[in-house]
Amino acid sequence: MRTFKITERITYIGVNDRRTTLFENNWPIPYGVSYNSYLIKDKKNVLIDTVEYGSDGEFLDKIESLLGGKALDYLVVNHMEPDHSGMIKSVLAKYPAVKLIGNSKTFELLEKYYGVDKESFMCINDGDELSIGEGTLKFAAVPWVHWPETMVTLDLKDLVLFTCDAFGSYGTLDGGIFDSDYNMDEILIPEMRRYYSNIVSKYSQMVTRAINKLSGVEFKVIAPSHGVVWKEAPARVVGLYADWAAHKSEEGVVIVYASMYGNTANLADRLGAMLHNAGVKNIRTYDVSKTHVSYILSDILRFKGLLLGSCAYNTYMHPMMEHLCNEIKIMSPKNKVMGIFGTSGWNGAGAKAIAKFAQEQNINTVLPIVEALGAPTESKISATAQEFVNNFSKAVKE
Ligand code: FEO
Repeated sequence: MRTFKITERITYIGVNDRRTTLFENNWPIPYGVSYNSYLIKDKKNVLIDTVEYGSDGEFLDKIESLLGGKALDYLVVNHMEPDHSGMIKSVLAKYPAVKLIGNSKTFELLEKYYGVDKESFMCINDGDELSIGEGTLKFAAVPWVHWPETMVTLDLKDLVLFTCDAFGSYGTLDGGIFDSDYNMDEILIPEMRRYYSNIVSKYSQMVTRAINKLSGVEFKVIAPSHGVVWKEAPARVVGLYADWAAHKSEEGVVIVYASMYGNTANLADRLGAMLHNAGVKNIRTYDVSKTHVSYILSDILRFKGLLLGSCAYNTYMHPMMEHLCNEIKIMSPKNKVMGIFGTSGWNGAGAKAIAKFAQEQNINTVLPIVEALGAPTESKISATAQEFVNNFSKAVKE
């Protein structure tokens, strides 16, 4: 049975999911995802969150085996999204006397999602503590990281902080579960950035608020409900999340284009080469019709420069670029330097539509817009493109 001791009292009983293609039926997860759950054995036995329903048939067996015939007293519901709450009904069916711990918002959702009645529920408030024997649990509300009811739980004896979605990541836990078991920079940090940009970024202000709230809290281990357990370097993940929430970015440019017949793609590559010649580092170019927006958003979070280009499409931008713009609007990136380009047959509808989007989102746009009617030949674009590249490269490097 796949379990891992975090401390003498606390055991990891999470599961890996390599079967799901799209997380939330939206985001690709080629490296899968883990749903982490933890069991604290004390005078009172406590389960911290569950896992997605049906993701692992052994989940209940692990609890039973670890409890060795003892009762399960509490289930802490840090977050109600079904990737963590999906097994609540199964846990209740097996352990009918278990008390579900959450706040008043948790209970509203428990009622709506699973028909849980008040008798099974113990309502706690922000800052409350609960003695479970040798140890004590302390609860802190971190609303909107990622739903309104979200909270974190600290085991005050072993100083393990259970954070659910916060400090989480895509990617399964293959072999070990601790940060020290992995070269984190290889797959898991990029996957964590992608997870942040896709799932959490919209709530960056709340993430900053939560990090500030936790800044005075002493903990040794961060145990999220997706991704590795941070035992060796918990400060690293807090720093990463703090930087992403503050929209700190690296020098570099993400060029994204929508092109039907190659003209806008051609212009994207030429602008990329001109930016390179102007000394800009880290240029990533994507065809928005080919690369899933999940990956593009991750690089938009990472780099300072954003260059969007579209052909004209039914007097608007291309629908795939419209999809990306909608995702950018949800993600609400800050401190970006943006440029716009496009091609068209008889008007500049694509580029104009992107410019309108940037204006509505208050994204700082560097001018001029680089446009061409038909093929973007040298004579049509060279003067405008050079002026744009001069202005844009300076802004990106500032
Ligand atoms: Fe991993 Fe918001 O659930």
